[in-house]
Amino acid sequence: MWGGRFTGGPADTMERINASIDFDRRLYAQDIAASKAHCQMLVRQSILRPEDGEAIQQGLDTILREIETGTFSFDRALEDIHMNVEARLKALIGDAAGRLHTARSRNDQVATDFRLWLRDEIDALEAGLQDLQAALIDQAEAHAATVMPGYTHLQPAQPVTFGHHMLAYVEMLGRDRGRLRDARRRLNECPLGAAALAGTSFPIDRDQTAEALGFDRPAANSMDAVSDRDFALEFLAAGAILAMHFSRLAEEIVLWCSQNFGFVALSDAFSTGSSIMPQKRNPDAAELLRGKSGRVVAAFNGLMLVMKGLPLAYGKDMQEDKEPVFDAADTLQLSVQVAAGMVRDLQPDPEALRQAAESGYLTATDLADWLVRAAGLPFREAHHVTGALVKQAAETDRDLHDLSLAEMQAVDPRISEGVYQVLAVDRAVESRTSFGGTAPELVRKAAAAARERFL
Ligand code: ARG
Repeated sequence: MWGGRFTGGPADTMERINASIDFDRRLYAQDIAASKAHCQMLVRQSILRPEDGEAIQQGLDTILREIETGTFSFDRALEDIHMNVEARLKALIGDAAGRLHTARSRNDQVATDFRLWLRDEIDALEAGLQDLQAALIDQAEAHAATVMPGYTHLQPAQPVTFGHHMLAYVEMLGRDRGRLRDARRRLNECPLGAAALAGTSFPIDRDQTAEALGFDRPAANSMDAVSDRDFALEFLAAGAILAMHFSRLAEEIVLWCSQNFGFVALSDAFSTGSSIMPQKRNPDAAELLRGKSGRVVAAFNGLMLVMKGLPLAYGKDMQEDKEPVFDAADTLQLSVQVAAGMVRDLQPDPEALRQAAESGYLTATDLADWLVRAAGLPFREAHHVTGALVKQAAETDRDLHDLSLAEMQAVDPRISEGVYQVLAVDRAVESRTSFGGTAPELVRKAAAAARERFL
């Protein structure tokens, strides 16, 4: 493979550690597209004869068809996708094949292929995220007024609506999309023509290849172009945050499906049974969504460790960039589809949600606020009075609205009949009309606005 300088072949273990074809064959379409763009540019710049260019283009088309129909045979001895394609080209068209590699290197080739591949992945992931947002917004609209407990410290805190809770995830995913778009914008510069590291003495036109491949511009520095993988790291970092969001959503679904909460049900489509306990319905899909987030975070960490401390320019260490990125991308694409499927499948139980919201003194804050507004207490004092009322109710195992007016007035004489109005959970959510709040009327507006902003 290496011609003149080499007489012996590689050790078997050398071949095994060195070859990337088993995974980088995934880049075949991008590799062929980049070769075609490079070939066309070489012809236009009179670096390559038109008849050689024509033979190369046709040969590459044949190879693309062979790979797509499964008749291409990949050879590990040829290391990677670039050499596999080139060797096949030689078999198909003869010596002209050797002219394709003029003014380029596998270093700028692989950096180009990988960016092209990741660009498509980001676009597909963004479309998936948009679909997930649509599913969440649908649930938000259906349950804009469905009251449930909102939590802090996983302790019941204040009533919110199920729709409001769904829209929280819509916002998170909106920022995830923004991070991905941002990464895409920065990755969209073309390394091709950087050659091995220093550029080339041939009169190439890097603007032509950049444009032909849909890049915004050629990468400005040849050494940077072949040696950085921050575009992959940005994808993984954005992906890790996204996976963390998936994991939180999944965790809530797991909790909500449990007997103890009983807030939502998943249909058979997203549940599994137990091989020993016939009564069980397990939320395996949600648990896997939660668990798989670990792979994406690990991919980010892994590639950071590969890149850290590498001297410029290219080093073979960087071949270790592909597997984690492939795995993270596959995981994220599957996760987003599963998340959307589960969100569409979720059947909230409005009665159970309401019952949970009505126990646990969730309107205590409303009572304290009322004492400030109607009875003129400073908030700190109102907080204290409310605490005493909650204590009294709890000791007799009652809710706040079960305390009589006389009992309340014994704690603070400034309390009047009007207090009972604010103790109802519906009133509590309806009153939260500050911007971004949980009032059903605002949730409906926020859902409509989210449609405009995200779909
Ligand atoms: N398979 C290699 C990679 O993925 C391609 C670049 C190899 N370049 C080299 N000079 N050995 O990084």
